[in-house]
Amino acid sequence: MIHNQTTDLIANHRSIRAFKPQALTEDQLTTLYTAASHTSSSMFMQQFSILHVTDEQKRAAVREIANQPYVGKDGDLLIFIADLHRNQQIRQQLGLDDGRLHTTDIFFQAVEDTVLAVQNVVTAAESLGLGAVVLGSVNNDPAALVKALGLPKLTFPVLGLQVGIPDQEPQLKPRLPLNFVAFENDYPTDFKVSDLKDYDQVVQTYYDLRDANRRIDSFTKQISGKKLTADPAKRDGLAQLLRDQGLALDWQ
Ligand SMILES: Cc1cc2nc3c(=O)[nH]c(=O)nc-3n(C[C@H](O)[C@H](O)[C@H](O)COP(=O)(O)O)c2cc1C
Repeated sequence: MIHNQTTDLIANHRSIRAFKPQALTEDQLTTLYTAASHTSSSMFMQQFSILHVTDEQKRAAVREIANQPYVGKDGDLLIFIADLHRNQQIRQQLGLDDGRLHTTDIFFQAVEDTVLAVQNVVTAAESLGLGAVVLGSVNNDPAALVKALGLPKLTFPVLGLQVGIPDQEPQLKPRLPLNFVAFENDYPTDFKVSDLKDYDQVVQTYYDLRDANRRIDSFTKQISGKKLTADPAKRDGLAQLLRDQGLALDWQ
C-alpha cells in the first residue's frame, strides 16, 4: 500500500458521534460545500443539493425521526438531497416538458451524485481535523422528513451528515480483508462463511463508543441478526414516497 496524506486520511476514517458544542465557521462550511460541488457528476447534471439545517425546530424534528441523540445536536447538520427539481425548473422555464426526469434511471443517477458528494464532504471534513457521521437514520420515516424540511417534488433526502469538532476518539473499525471485497475479472462464487472466522474475531476486538464502550458482535453475527430481520416500520414507505415525489415513476 502506498502511503501519502490522502490515502492515510481515507484509510483512517472513523465515524464521529460526539462533537464539541461549536458550529462550523463560514470558511469551513464553504470548504465542505466546494468539496461536494466538485464531486464527479453523472452526465454532468449536478443533481444534488445540500440543506444546512440550523433552525432548532427542524433540527429537533430530524433528531426525532432519526431517533439518535447526536443528530442535530452539537455540530452542524447537513441533509444531502437528490435534486431533480432544479433541472425540472430549467426545462420548464425554457418551455420544455420533463423529458426523462421521472424515470428510475435519472433518479438513480441523482442518488449516485448525492452519495458521492457526501463522501467527499466526509473526507474534506476529516482533512480539516473535523469529524462526521453519515446518517441513514434521517430516513427512518422518509415522508415525515420530506414534510419537516418542506422539500418540493422531484427532491429526495438521501442521507444526513452530522459534522463538527470531534469530542471522542473512536477506534478504527476493522473492515473485511481485501480478498473478500476486491476481485479480478471473475466474481468468485465459492464464498464460505467459515472463511470469515478470523475476521469475526478481529471485529469483536472493536469497542463501540455508542454503546457504553462495549465490544461489538462478530460480523457474521451482525449480518445474521436484526440488521436484516427487524421490522423496518416506516422505512418500507420509501417506494410510496418516491412516487409521491414524482420520482422513479416507471419502477415496477
Ligand atoms: C449510508 C450510511 C448510513 C449510515 N447511517 C448511520 C446512522 O444513521 N447513524 C450512525 O450513527 N451511523 C451511521 N452510519 C455510519 C456507520 O455506522 C459506520 O460508517 C460504520 O459502522 C463503520 O464505522 P466507521 O465509519 O467508524 O469506520 C452510516 C453509514 C453509511 C455509509
